[in-house]
Amino acid sequence: MRKNIVAGNWKMNKNVIEAQQLMFQLLEYKKNNTSNCEIWIAPPSLYLMMAKDLYENNEIGVFSQDMSEHESGAYTGEISADMLESIDADGALIGHSERRQYHGETDSHCNRKIKLALDKGLIPVYCNGETLEQRKAGQHLEVVKNQTEVALFTLSAEEIKKVVIAYEPVWAIGTGETASPEQAQEIHAHIRNTIANKYGKEVADEISILYGGSVKPENAKEIFSQPDIDGGLIGGAALKIADFAQIIEGFN
Ligand code: G3P
Repeated sequence: MRKNIVAGNWKMNKNVIEAQQLMFQLLEYKKNNTSNCEIWIAPPSLYLMMAKDLYENNEIGVFSQDMSEHESGAYTGEISADMLESIDADGALIGHSERRQYHGETDSHCNRKIKLALDKGLIPVYCNGETLEQRKAGQHLEVVKNQTEVALFTLSAEEIKKVVIAYEPVWAIGTGETASPEQAQEIHAHIRNTIANKYGKEVADEISILYGGSVKPENAKEIFSQPDIDGGLIGGAALKIADFAQIIEGFN
């Protein structure tokens, strides 16, 4: 079901004390403020169980930053869908651009991971987006369309409705170079139309599509006001409670 979501991707940041502190600050914020969106975090996997213990009433969604395409076995360092389900995690980021850049992940890998996540009742947050070179070459619409099709179009209508999509233009991630609300809206609408062309408008309108890439307190409200933007996947600004809280209030 389509909903407003602000999710924090902590990436490889925070030691255990700092992580516990931020999780607790976020819980206090959630308890003392009315938010018009769901609040999710994707901390380092070391801290997932700590988060689930702290958020025992599911006040905040808890997601891993990646998930294996394999069910189990000799895959050193990987985390399986079954493991995530066993700790009652809510889901997993899949296909983040840093996984693609540093670990050679493709949309075919994403497709397998998304199916495994759905089979275990986990919410896949499928990340895609074009590079600066692709945008400069005017290829961004075709690139994102192709990414979406390869990653998602083997799913049934009922399955794809459970996927959250995060459009993250690679050139905006960690650069401070945020896509303009119009640029982001164009791609979000394009993703939604691509899905509608295959599954129908009713299904496409059920899917939450988040924007990621230098979302900050000062730009969140305008970005979230776009018709096809349902929230944000936040990196750097998720690491400080004051910034993350202001971004959440972008829906107020
Ligand atoms: O997954 C979210 C992340 O890629 C965005 O990072 O620091 O540009 O908000 P940042």
